[in-house]
Amino acid sequence: MATSTVSETVLAEEVEKRRNFAIISHPDAGKTTLTEKLLLYGGAIHEAGAVKARRAQRHATSDWMEMEQQRGISITSTVLQFDYRDVRINLLDTPGHQDFSEDTYRTLAAADNAVMLEDAAKGLEPQTRKLFEVCRMRSLPIFTFFNKMDRPAREPLELLDEIEQELGLATYAVNWPIGMGEQFRGVFDRRKRQFHLFERTAHGSKAAGKTVLDLGDPRIEDLVDQDLYYQFKEELEMIEELGAELDLAAIHAGQLSPVFFGSAMTNFGVQLFLDAFLDYALKPAPRNSTQGEIEPTAEDFSGFVFKLQANMDPKHRDRVAFIRVCSGKFEKDMVVNHARSGKNVRLSHPQKLFAQGRESLEEAYPGDVIGLNNPGVFAIGDTIYQGQKLEYEGIPCFSPELFAYLKNPNPSKFKQFHKGVTELREEGAVQIMFSADESKRDPILAAVGQLQFEVVQFRLQNEYNVETRLEPLPYSVARWVEGGWEALDKAGRLFNTTTVKDSWGRPVLLFRNEWNVGQVEGDHPGLKLRKTAPVV
Ligand code: G4P
Repeated sequence: MATSTVSETVLAEEVEKRRNFAIISHPDAGKTTLTEKLLLYGGAIHEAGAVKARRAQRHATSDWMEMEQQRGISITSTVLQFDYRDVRINLLDTPGHQDFSEDTYRTLAAADNAVMLEDAAKGLEPQTRKLFEVCRMRSLPIFTFFNKMDRPAREPLELLDEIEQELGLATYAVNWPIGMGEQFRGVFDRRKRQFHLFERTAHGSKAAGKTVLDLGDPRIEDLVDQDLYYQFKEELEMIEELGAELDLAAIHAGQLSPVFFGSAMTNFGVQLFLDAFLDYALKPAPRNSTQGEIEPTAEDFSGFVFKLQANMDPKHRDRVAFIRVCSGKFEKDMVVNHARSGKNVRLSHPQKLFAQGRESLEEAYPGDVIGLNNPGVFAIGDTIYQGQKLEYEGIPCFSPELFAYLKNPNPSKFKQFHKGVTELREEGAVQIMFSADESKRDPILAAVGQLQFEVVQFRLQNEYNVETRLEPLPYSVARWVEGGWEALDKAGRLFNTTTVKDSWGRPVLLFRNEWNVGQVEGDHPGLKLRKTAPVV
């Protein structure tokens, strides 16, 4: 088998210049706006507004089907690549609120860094917390950006405290704000010890023009209201004396979060963030596999599938598999081993994924993501490699929060129904569970977002020609039982929970709420419950 030809030096240089991250946030915190501003700096788009089209699409996600029928929309938003300061940046897009699904979690499996974007008026919000937990599982470095400082916000010290107390994540403020809302005057950059003063521009459509003053420049006292300035100085002294030290190792271990304040909409603080991010972020790192840690600079190509995207147009029933390159060099048409099946696969028609459309791709390096038309061989978590056989750690199933029986009212369609449900499960569109009570044969759909239900029903209708009905179940939490059925039997009778089986026949407990989980755990200290399914 032909292996890729890349010199060690070239490979090392390519890895060195790559950074990859995903933004985790709650809807409306400003992810689309920030993305757009980042792309402006990267020169990937030339005017603000190009990403906005995507926002408009996203707001219409109830119209998801239509959106998907215009081929490629959600595909193209899976990764945005741009260059800035000689660094190639891959921004892995995690979908927004309405399309929150397991893909949102899986995308984090392919990321090396996360940017936690918070609305400074709101602080931590539910979706951010959930996504943070996934980042924590992987010890991802987390950068925090407090957005919308041009509007009334919570006290900055309070915002930092919330992260430290509630997430157990230490913080290091890289810049510090002067005022907020109507009185927002800018930020102090602790790296260069300079003030960046905020000037309101018309919606910040260009990279913001700004006044920069050194610390100690007397003009600052003319430009900033005295009270504000003294408050700022007091706070700065406090964080400099009492706050954590900047410690790159702690950042890379996901224990210390560099913090930034700014306003994406007015394009303020975005460049300061981007500059610091590039200096502090983790480069494509070694990954755990059955052969131990694989260095990105290892000569042999390897990667894994973290997302599958079906094309909704029934006339083009292709699937795209998204692959994170982990080591070596990817080349168009290369032949690789598919670890699960043991087969050889030729990687033809690779696509570079970008906001404006699909482009053909000739080569890619660790940290990049490629899209491959999936001839049906790939499943989520699959490894492909050249050289010595290896498999990367799988991607776990995450605790679903919505459950419903999926009914097929037409018995003559049983075969199609069964086929559709099985295929959609294999593709990772939704988790499927079954009642432990054998008399109830209808599958239970288990999802993290409502949209997953809609997708399954729509696709069953369109691709398998089966109309289905949903019967919602009143649960919102699932926990896998460590030690399986044996451990569950040992625990004896449980109250306020229902036992179901996942697709691998393992016991899963469903609860109405977290409180019930606590009750069961309290009553049965020997019973160990997990939020994610063990990887199969
Ligand atoms: P999302 O992708 O995280 O859901 O958020 P998005 O960027 O769509 O931003 C949500 C809303 O917040 C938008 O307003 C956006 O303009 C606004 N926004 C984002 N960043 C800032 C900021 O730094 N300051 C202020 N004041 N607002 C900000 P919208 O009214 O929903 O949309 P639009 O009419 O502005 O397009």
